[in-house]
Amino acid sequence: MISGLVRRAGLVDVLGAVGQTNVQGEEQQKLDVIADEAMKGAFARTGRICVMGSEEDEDPIPVDEAYGYGKYTLLFDPLDGSSNIDVNVSIGTIFSIHRRKTSDGAGTLSDLLQPGRDQVAAGYVVYGSSTVLVYTAGFGVHVFTLDPTIGEYRLCHHDIKTPEVGKYYSVNESYYSRWSNGYREVVRAFKGDGTKDHRKNARYIGSLVADFHRNLLSGGVFMYPADSRSPQGKLRLLYEAAPLAFVAQQAGGAASDGRTPILEIEPAGLHQRTPLLIGSKDDVAFVEETVARVDGAPT
Ligand code: AHG
Ligand code: MN
Ligand code: MN
Repeated sequence: MISGLVRRAGLVDVLGAVGQTNVQGEEQQKLDVIADEAMKGAFARTGRICVMGSEEDEDPIPVDEAYGYGKYTLLFDPLDGSSNIDVNVSIGTIFSIHRRKTSDGAGTLSDLLQPGRDQVAAGYVVYGSSTVLVYTAGFGVHVFTLDPTIGEYRLCHHDIKTPEVGKYYSVNESYYSRWSNGYREVVRAFKGDGTKDHRKNARYIGSLVADFHRNLLSGGVFMYPADSRSPQGKLRLLYEAAPLAFVAQQAGGAASDGRTPILEIEPAGLHQRTPLLIGSKDDVAFVEETVARVDGAPT
């Protein structure tokens, strides 16, 4: 449904802002709201989940009692890359599934506040030059392409692995002056300053899913560090960082907040933010080591 709308976005009245902000204080686009409603409508009556959490909704979202409460929880970013919606650049949807912690009845906030290592499945859809679904259930990462002629996803890559060292670095470099010295040194190394060993090409779309997907296939590291304006970073732990960290780990890559693996962070809030460093294993390790050496221990 979301892919169909995105594909026809200029033809139907779904572009632009709705004139209100979401729980993050960010301006909601019409497609953010439509995608959120599509996700909630599709999953509330499956009987397979007991509660949902979305970037666009402040509180946990109940499911329809008449269809029963399932044993799983669902967290999602219905539309990732909002700033790219109106300009025909790739956007996506991210999801994370956990087993519930409470035993029965309606799911609660505590069912949603679980560390990433306990995910049973996670993945994303990228509405790019084609619509691609990538997921893991803990047994490798599989890539499907939507065949619009039959309305089905077809498997195109089974059990993919990401390169250990990548060719791309992806970061919003316009925040350079707000970063710690550690991240400045990392980016100087990626530009080839000092030693050529770490030189990489820059690629930054500004849609996390699309940046992550490119780096997963080609190898590379995506960074959204904390900075002086966003001391916790911008991205959300439960429905952006953790699901992509699970995919990265299953593809042989890594993800951390700079010091702690994303999958080990114990969440305290539904919309908690985290710095994010994700992608090829050796590149993530290089960034972590450089930041630790230059910035020292956290104060
Ligand atoms: P969302 O559209 O779900 O709010 O997420 C936007 C995020 C993410 O997709 C992207 O990596 C990041 O915002 C880009 O932020 P900057 O414009 O600060 O680089
Ligand atoms: Mn997002
Ligand atoms: Mn979003």
